[in-house]
Amino acid sequence: MIKQGLAFFFLSLIVVCNADPIKFVDCGSKVGKIVYVDISPCPTEPCVLQKGKAYSVNVTFNSNVDSEISKAVVHGIIAGVPIPFPIPIDDGCKSGIKCPMTKDQIYNYVNELTVKSEYPSIKLVVEWELRDQTKTDYFCFKFPVEISS
Ligand SMILES: *[C@@H]1O[C@H](CO)[C@@H](O)[C@H](O)[C@H]1NC(C)=O
Repeated sequence: MIKQGLAFFFLSLIVVCNADPIKFVDCGSKVGKIVYVDISPCPTEPCVLQKGKAYSVNVTFNSNVDSEISKAVVHGIIAGVPIPFPIPIDDGCKSGIKCPMTKDQIYNYVNELTVKSEYPSIKLVVEWELRDQTKTDYFCFKFPVEISS
């Protein structure tokens, strides 16, 4: 019993420490399929993003098409209005993906989201897309966040 309890305890620790798969809304993944989205750290949902901190985003997805390139496009949706959110590295091929991308492959897109101190303390929805060479979405997902000081 104690042995099993300990094993369960350590297993739980591994699951908790490794990654935080979040609930998301798919907003039109056309040439890919999202397996899961991890935001770390995000122990509670919606994710609370502290100013001055960096958060890692790890998207596991399947590709349905070949593409030489891929490009990430991020928007912050505030009161229903999507506002472009430029990220320092928008090249998917420099975000954990080996290019050219091929069909029927599982990829991990890994990037960081840095919350600058000048951002307002608001709740918003983050929309993250990864586009192929024809600007069609490998994935598009939305998740709510709260920016906090
Ligand atoms: C991203 O997630 C995958 C699947 O859980 C994992 O194998 C990989 O190590 C993660 N990558 C990073 C940089 O965290």
